[in-house]
Amino acid sequence: MKLAIISEVHANVEALEATLADIAQEAVDRIVCLGDIVGYNTEPQECIALLRAAGALCVAGNHDRAVAGQITTETFSATAARAVAWTRERLHGDEIAFLAGLPLKANIDNKLLAVHGALHPDAGCETVRLDSDARRALSMAALIAHPSGALICAFGHTHELAIYEFRSGKTVLLPEDEIKLRRDTYYLINPGAVGEPRGADRRATYMLLDLRERTLYVRRVAYDVWAPLAATRKAGLGPRAAFLRGPLRSAIGKGLAAIRARKNLKRAAR
Ligand SMILES: [Fe+2]
Repeated sequence: MKLAIISEVHANVEALEATLADIAQEAVDRIVCLGDIVGYNTEPQECIALLRAAGALCVAGNHDRAVAGQITTETFSATAARAVAWTRERLHGDEIAFLAGLPLKANIDNKLLAVHGALHPDAGCETVRLDSDARRALSMAALIAHPSGALICAFGHTHELAIYEFRSGKTVLLPEDEIKLRRDTYYLINPGAVGEPRGADRRATYMLLDLRERTLYVRRVAYDVWAPLAATRKAGLGPRAAFLRGPLRSAIGKGLAAIRARKNLKRAAR
């Protein structure tokens, strides 16, 4: 079985169309989408329709759950929260129901486990970021102990492309873009982002996983990055402090989100 693993579409239809066109050239049996279909960009309906038409197996991301009203946006940045509210107003009932019905975890033939955030938590797994050795070790332990016997867990949420292998008791980052999977160890894999890149390389990324050949390839797809950017600005969804560099903007955004959350807690305690 050959799978295309995608994540973080984030309502960017230009990126999704280019990625699906690239996937169409490969003989894949199934597309697995690790969530965050919506959020940030302006084409949520088109992206949902494309993924449904492609028969993609999707798990729920935190943005999907927020738009469906299943979690709050208290911990979201102001830009992300604004896009959630904007998206919610534009989706039809059946599209909201589609997002609300997505599972948090999926098991593909006892070979691959798919999650948005992390495998190890029982609750709130879509919001836990595997961005530290300690958290990756917890999800790796959950994979090793998983009753399915699956050797691979695919995750997203960090928007960062990565392949981790369990080696001598440690979860080790592999630098390669193409690997032959071993039969005697475990992997945590992250295909990066289709529609909301965080690094300097704006191309969409995804992974091709051939379970029979035991190969894993990273694919990078170029698309017109300016079209979704212009559309988000026009819709008022671009970051407010767009003149600041990304890391600084996100640090300020996180600080403001923390202040908002604290205010809400105080209000709730009154
Ligand atoms: Fe995301």
